[in-house]
Amino acid sequence: MSSNTKHVSLDTLASLCKRRGFIFQTSEIYGGINGFWDYGPAGAELKRNIKDAWWRSMVQNRDDVVGLDSAIIQHPRTWEASGHVEGFTDPMVDCKKCKGRWRADQLPDTKCPQGGPHDYTEARKFNLMFETYVGAIHDENSKAYLRPETAQGIFAQFGNVMAVARQKIPFGIAQIGKAFRNEINPRNYTFRSREFEQMELEFFVKPGTDQQWHEYWVAERLKWYQTIGLPAEHLHQYVYKKEELAHYASACVDVMYDFPFGTQELEGIAARGDFDLRRHQEYSGKSMDYFDQETNEKFIPHVVEPSAGVDRIALAILCEAFTEEWVPTAEAAGQPAGNATRSIAGRPPIPAEAGKPPPQGYELRTVMRFSPRVAPVKVAVFPLLKNKPELVEKSRQVFEMLRSRWPAFYDQTGAIGRRYRRQDEVGTPFGITIDFDTLKDDTVTLRDRDTMKQVRLGVSELPAKLGELLS
Ligand code: GAP
Repeated sequence: MSSNTKHVSLDTLASLCKRRGFIFQTSEIYGGINGFWDYGPAGAELKRNIKDAWWRSMVQNRDDVVGLDSAIIQHPRTWEASGHVEGFTDPMVDCKKCKGRWRADQLPDTKCPQGGPHDYTEARKFNLMFETYVGAIHDENSKAYLRPETAQGIFAQFGNVMAVARQKIPFGIAQIGKAFRNEINPRNYTFRSREFEQMELEFFVKPGTDQQWHEYWVAERLKWYQTIGLPAEHLHQYVYKKEELAHYASACVDVMYDFPFGTQELEGIAARGDFDLRRHQEYSGKSMDYFDQETNEKFIPHVVEPSAGVDRIALAILCEAFTEEWVPTAEAAGQPAGNATRSIAGRPPIPAEAGKPPPQGYELRTVMRFSPRVAPVKVAVFPLLKNKPELVEKSRQVFEMLRSRWPAFYDQTGAIGRRYRRQDEVGTPFGITIDFDTLKDDTVTLRDRDTMKQVRLGVSELPAKLGELLS
């Protein structure tokens, strides 16, 4: 199925995300705050599924990676050692004409980003770390930072984890958690936010094996994206040139995705040498040496770091899943109004053409074609009519049976066609309808979100069938 990821406008996507409970502007009732977002019921599940898939593949299914959950606020020396206090800056200018504040390296050539002529101040460095104070006294001594990345919590705990993990190098420490950056211009919906979540692995290797492990992780990570529904043709690699690398790094590859606003980074995979551990050793006075019992060598391990953003992956999945198509109207399909089982009338959906009205006898359907692995709800259960207690009772029984195995949703409100459409927009792969035949022969209809085709099968067959379809 071809996707229209290049074509969905962020406004259209944002409107669906609000309507179906994926993403809301944070504190919307107070007018919002730029660069911060809330995830609604469907968005919270989507993010959980992304994080669970990452954790399963990076930690649970591997012998050589363990997990960590470190604090958001670390000792301020952490950020001196990491180089963030000194160097985590973007160049910033003020425009005296529009009074806007902009990132100097992202300005259009001629006009101010607001559209008119510009009159910029000299660029100055702006540190992206959010500052806070620990304790009752607010002064330089109590200043701390909200972490701008989860990675440093891992480096700072390298010794403690080594002592308990019974691991030998090569091995990794993984962490998922919030990170905060006071971005000068948050933009492209959730793509560049001020609060976001990272999924980072620090994979410690023997010096000299960096390149081989870097190649390994680039390949692994590219494969993983395909398992969550981002197809290879929309994924790209940006390989850093030597002169673009940090002085301590030997390689870096960004995994990029074709967003509607351009091909942009989802994840960076960097071979960072021993820079981080060496700096923490220097600043803390604690040894970061590893003793290799096989070779009797002592060394500071080198690190390969795949570092991904949950919110960017969620946005990519939302863009990829968003599909608009034309489906025969109920009347044209000879079915009761509001019944969306039209493809069985022999006319399959056709891709919608942007800006054009549907042809005669068709109407627009919006459907989120999530991979079942990340879909917020896997199966929805509907009684055909809500005012028939026998149908409702049977539907609740089927729902209770299924929800113990999969995230399921029960909906009895509104015409059945409209209930299907709601689930199409949430991206629920399967819908089950309990009708009057169910009461006679214990069969139900199972509707496929993408083809809208329905098959009839016994209630007792449902768990096995869904297990097969959702695997
Ligand atoms: N420890 C390395 C590190 O933090 P990064 O490239 O600055 O590297 C890693 O960040 C990932 O975190 C990015 O690839 C992106 O997915 C996510 N990320 C970074 N800044 C972000 C922002 N302002 N909003 C959303 N995600 C962001």
